[in-house]
Amino acid sequence: MLKVEETYAPVEFSAALVSKFDEIVSRYPQGKQKSALLPILHLVQAEFGWVSVPAMDKVAEYLDLKDIEVYEVATFYSMYFLRPQGKYMLEVCRTGPCCLVGAEKIMDHIEEKLGVKEGEVTADGIFSWRGVECLAACGYGPVLQIGPEYTFYENLTNESVDKLIADLRTKAK
Ligand code: FES
Repeated sequence: MLKVEETYAPVEFSAALVSKFDEIVSRYPQGKQKSALLPILHLVQAEFGWVSVPAMDKVAEYLDLKDIEVYEVATFYSMYFLRPQGKYMLEVCRTGPCCLVGAEKIMDHIEEKLGVKEGEVTADGIFSWRGVECLAACGYGPVLQIGPEYTFYENLTNESVDKLIADLRTKAK
């Protein structure tokens, strides 16, 4: 369970990160800096692993927006993580076509294998998992993706999931 102090821990943006923000903002006409919000939130997530409230507040300050303007965007798009995640987030498609070929059983298997429920983080901090909507690989289901590169793993079976988890665990060490 996420503790409040983790949620509200202060964050600082490095000069290197702010310089990346500046470059993105420079692509848009003056006064239209809000257009840079989505890519800036992606950069924040890449830096910290998730997008906390203090991070959103700092983004709002940087872009001269109201805090709520950042919250409403970050909470709308599921690609932004609003709580800490494992190093690897397994996102399993749970839309109809993948369910017809066993996506729900794959999610059950992942839950049992990792010992955590959807949205939770394993004790070693390596894994989280969740169901997501169609990943546009409907002919290759069940399918999952792993960010931040969004690598796809298709035609999943319990055995291929076990191998994937073992490989990622080794890679994480
Ligand atoms: Fe699973 Fe489209 S339904 S990828």
